[in-house]
Amino acid sequence: MSSPYAGSVAVVTGAASGIGHATASRLIELGARVIGLDRDVGAPQGVDLRVTDVTDRASVLAALADLTSIDRLFNCAGVTGAAGPETTLRVNVFGLRDVIDMVLPLMPDGGSITNIASVGGWKWDKNFELVQGFLATVGIDDLGDWCTDHAELLAPSAYPFSKQCVVVETLLRCAELAPREIRVNAICPGLVDTPMLGSAPAGRGYVSAFPLPFGRMTTADEQASVLVYLGGPDAGAVSGVILPTDQGLLASVRVGALASPFGDA
Ligand SMILES: NC(=O)c1ccc[n+]([C@@H]2O[C@H](COP(=O)([O-])OP(=O)(O)OC[C@H]3O[C@@H](n4cnc5c(N)ncnc54)[C@H](O)[C@@H]3O)[C@@H](O)[C@H]2O)c1
Repeated sequence: MSSPYAGSVAVVTGAASGIGHATASRLIELGARVIGLDRDVGAPQGVDLRVTDVTDRASVLAALADLTSIDRLFNCAGVTGAAGPETTLRVNVFGLRDVIDMVLPLMPDGGSITNIASVGGWKWDKNFELVQGFLATVGIDDLGDWCTDHAELLAPSAYPFSKQCVVVETLLRCAELAPREIRVNAICPGLVDTPMLGSAPAGRGYVSAFPLPFGRMTTADEQASVLVYLGGPDAGAVSGVILPTDQGLLASVRVGALASPFGDA
């Protein structure tokens, strides 16, 4: 049986590390041509890695300049809140959105966009209007002032808000792109064993105190397999799904079996 990815072109941001690396690796195994966009080097063998900063539009445009068609986009680049509010929002939200905007003109109908949110963004519903307003009105030039004005919301970390934005961006794009049969989904991992955890705010004991229903972290490859499924033609009816890949953490919090690790953010 031929692979659902054979002959397709996939762009993977964050392909040099962690979940993006594992996703790029799986896509190569499945016969895709994979273009990696990352500010670092170190993508799997076979990936055409183009050193790119997703917050720099000129850098993304240059990286995509020779491509005529992109079937699948996987947005895996991201930073923790330790990067500070402005950088966290620039990378996790504006970078993701800009890459989508720049890939879309090259994506044929029937393509897919698959994002990574986080269980940390689980209260997106509660903040929906604020998030939607942020996405609709705040640009790169007023981001600094917006962060200052919303310091309380973004403390102690802008990461939860950034991931709420990823969820809402996913839903908005799902609705926008449905007429073109471009599917847009996101996963919501709990803790994943990747280099990112080294930059998590360890001072607050965030990682060591984080609940692990299976008693272990998930692996980057376990996350990648879900991304690859959602982005591929086997998930042809699936769009607008925010899929927890968290070992049942959100479910357990919802039914009161586990205390929420997120406070009221
Ligand atoms: N590791 C976890 O526990 C966890 C949990 C939930 C969600 N996530 C999300 O998963 C995604 C992948 O994270 P990971 O754990 O694989 O982390 P990682 O640090 O291993 O990989 C992130 C990659 O993004 C790249 N990157 C960061 N900023 C960039 C920029 N401006 N331009 C281009 N590339 C940039 C980095 O160089 C790195 O290769 C992120 O969006 C993260 O928020 C991770």
